[in-house]
Amino acid sequence: MRDIALISIYSSDKCTKMRNLVHLFQLLSERSSKESISHKEMPTYEQHEEFVNKKPYKEWYLIQSLEEPNYPVVGCIYLTKDNEIGISIYDIFKRQHYATSAISTLMDVHKAPYYLANINPENYKSKEMFKRLGFKFKTVTMENKKIKQEIYKFTADGASLVSSSNSQAELQSDPNS
Ligand SMILES: CC(C)(COP(=O)(O)OP(=O)(O)OC[C@H]1O[C@@H](n2cnc3c(N)ncnc32)[C@H](O)[C@@H]1OP(=O)(O)O)[C@@H](O)C(=O)NCCC(=O)NCCS
Repeated sequence: MRDIALISIYSSDKCTKMRNLVHLFQLLSERSSKESISHKEMPTYEQHEEFVNKKPYKEWYLIQSLEEPNYPVVGCIYLTKDNEIGISIYDIFKRQHYATSAISTLMDVHKAPYYLANINPENYKSKEMFKRLGFKFKTVTMENKKIKQEIYKFTADGASLVSSSNSQAELQSDPNS
């Protein structure tokens, strides 16, 4: 497990809000069409800002590494009102278990009877990651006779979660703010 902190997008002040918007936009721009289920084209920065300001999710965090020099932002993670988890990690920080640590921390902080992950069927690495966290395939949604997304579900009684108890992962306010 990585030593990380989750920094709330919603409780940031004006100054950090601008920086957060830039991170979220950059992370979105690194997503390929196979990794996305919600957008096919990149929004403009103004559209992006409008979307974030609407607070569409229950919680939305930047993921900050507490292990690297200067505590860089390594990605973002959100939880919807339906307990769906979405996550993006910057390319340069991928495959270092930051996503696994952030999802475990999110589930520790926001206890829920179940969690969902809606994944593009071609997004094999994401499917593999959620399966390793104990998520089980549930169903698919269709669009124009094609599978649009595969839905994976985690229930506390149905799987074992990678424990974050040995990590110092925590929810905290931004040390840079
Ligand atoms: C999917 C994503 C979040 C994974 O982030 P990550 O920090 O690289 O993932 P982790 O390092 O925690 O990987 C955990 C496990 O997932 C699997 N995995 C992750 N990336 C993989 C890859 N490129 N190829 C194969 N398996 C992969 C592996 O089993 C890995 O464990 P291992 O490294 O011990 O073998 C990241 O690739 C990403 O941001 N993708 C773009 C956005 C996206 O697809 N989000 C998910 C949909 S909501």
